[in-house]
Amino acid sequence: MELVRTINEVRKIVKEWKSKGYKVGYVPTMGYLHEGHKSLILKSVSENDKTIVSIFVNPIQFGPTEDLESYPRDIERDKKLVSDAGADLIFYPEVSEMYPSHFTTLVNTKEVSENLCGAKRPVHFGGVCTVLSKFFNIITPDRAYFGQKDAQQLAVVKRFVRDLNFDIEIIGCPIIREDDGLAKSSRNTYLNPEERKAALILSKSLAKGKDLILAGERDANKVIKCITDSLNTEKLAKVDYVSVVDNENIQYIDTIKGEVLVAIAVYIGKTRLIDNFIIKVED
Ligand code: PAF
Repeated sequence: MELVRTINEVRKIVKEWKSKGYKVGYVPTMGYLHEGHKSLILKSVSENDKTIVSIFVNPIQFGPTEDLESYPRDIERDKKLVSDAGADLIFYPEVSEMYPSHFTTLVNTKEVSENLCGAKRPVHFGGVCTVLSKFFNIITPDRAYFGQKDAQQLAVVKRFVRDLNFDIEIIGCPIIREDDGLAKSSRNTYLNPEERKAALILSKSLAKGKDLILAGERDANKVIKCITDSLNTEKLAKVDYVSVVDNENIQYIDTIKGEVLVAIAVYIGKTRLIDNFIIKVED
């Protein structure tokens, strides 16, 4: 497995691969990799001839009060995980390689990005799509892999790829959880032992909401109330949002019907965690 730091070098390697007819899979990440990322890499390795993983903490997708500086980083650990998972190349650029001085062009997103996390993090999805358009142009992958944990990101990326005609198949992969149910996240590392226990309230509360829907409830506000009440039983939890939206356009709905995304964001202490489930309701 190679680690490459410049755009020119990645381009050269990919060109060689493509001249041999290889299919290229791509897993974009911000590093501090865990089993969730590993599952994306394994899927890419199984579906493509070559797999590239980018590791880049993208400054333009963080708001001014967010955790850009403290975001966890450990390239040596990441290298091992990527190599164990069978990927061929890590692209690990410097910020100046991706954003030279006078960088002025940004992707603007609407609709799919306006609710949920987009409402709370106004620069976030524009920053994500800007960096992805750069990575997509540099790597020119055939397929790119994203976790369902960031459900809104997945919906935004699907729309962005369609709207801007990137010839890339976007593949969503299931949430990977700890044994006790907590969704894997690089940000879990911020939690102290007491907060780590408290964080279980996210998956537990979502399970209650899901049970309610499975029992026949179709009123989105009742499901939201059930989940919110459950989250509020945990004294370390502060609800940021509990929302029910359609899973394509990420618009709020009153009645649960079709493919529905139930998504939450919750502060446990100072750490903001997200989790969700998708449910298809035909009646
Ligand atoms: O999901 C992430 O880690 C990031 O948002 C991504 C897709 C790598 C873009 O920086």
